[in-house]
Amino acid sequence: MRVHVANHPLIAHKLTYLRDKRTDSPTFRRLAEELVTLLAYEATREVRVEPFEIETPVAPTTGIKLSSPKPLVVPILRAGLGMLEGMVRLLPSAEVGFLGMMRDEETLQAITYANRLPDDLSGRQCYVLDPMLATGGTLAMSLKYLVERGADDITAVTLLSAPEGIKALEAEMDGMHVPITLVTGAIDDHLNEKGYIVPGLGDAGDRLYG
Ligand code: PRP
Repeated sequence: MRVHVANHPLIAHKLTYLRDKRTDSPTFRRLAEELVTLLAYEATREVRVEPFEIETPVAPTTGIKLSSPKPLVVPILRAGLGMLEGMVRLLPSAEVGFLGMMRDEETLQAITYANRLPDDLSGRQCYVLDPMLATGGTLAMSLKYLVERGADDITAVTLLSAPEGIKALEAEMDGMHVPITLVTGAIDDHLNEKGYIVPGLGDAGDRLYG
């Protein structure tokens, strides 16, 4: 698994306000969206494209367009929904599928409660959106699910990640033989005993949607 930490002062600046407990929900939503657009720029660096002939007012030239099948963007409900607009702003022709997952706060195990994805993902590039990578259970379950359906290239985009979660995800995805990339705004210090990222930003779902 490739891990890319977006190292940019604007990302760090926006993340600072996102972390601040005084930031209200409307501002949090706006910042999350802006951050995703910046992260999406990194995440789509290897989006598949093909040559495309056009004519400028001066001369014919060869440009590029997104290849078919179009990429699939998968926000993990609920908090990942706060990242969808920012992502599709950069990839307006992408298809969108949904996975609803929640973490049992006692066991920290992920549970799937909704699934609206195309049955066949053969040959698809997938972008999975979830603000937090804590224990890694939610992303591991989601990514495995996409691989089982045929996805052959997956990029997970998170705002914050815990080192423990990255390690766990790497171990889970190890034998998958599918290129997996993680693009994250920052890797924080550690996970606390309740499975929260420290310093983190609290519960992203609650801060987005109350
Ligand atoms: C949070 C977060 C991730 C998950 C991360 O979701 O948005 O999906 O926990 O934890 P993990 O890496 O330990 O699995 P939550 O279960 O709180 O659901 P929500 O998005 O509906 O708030």
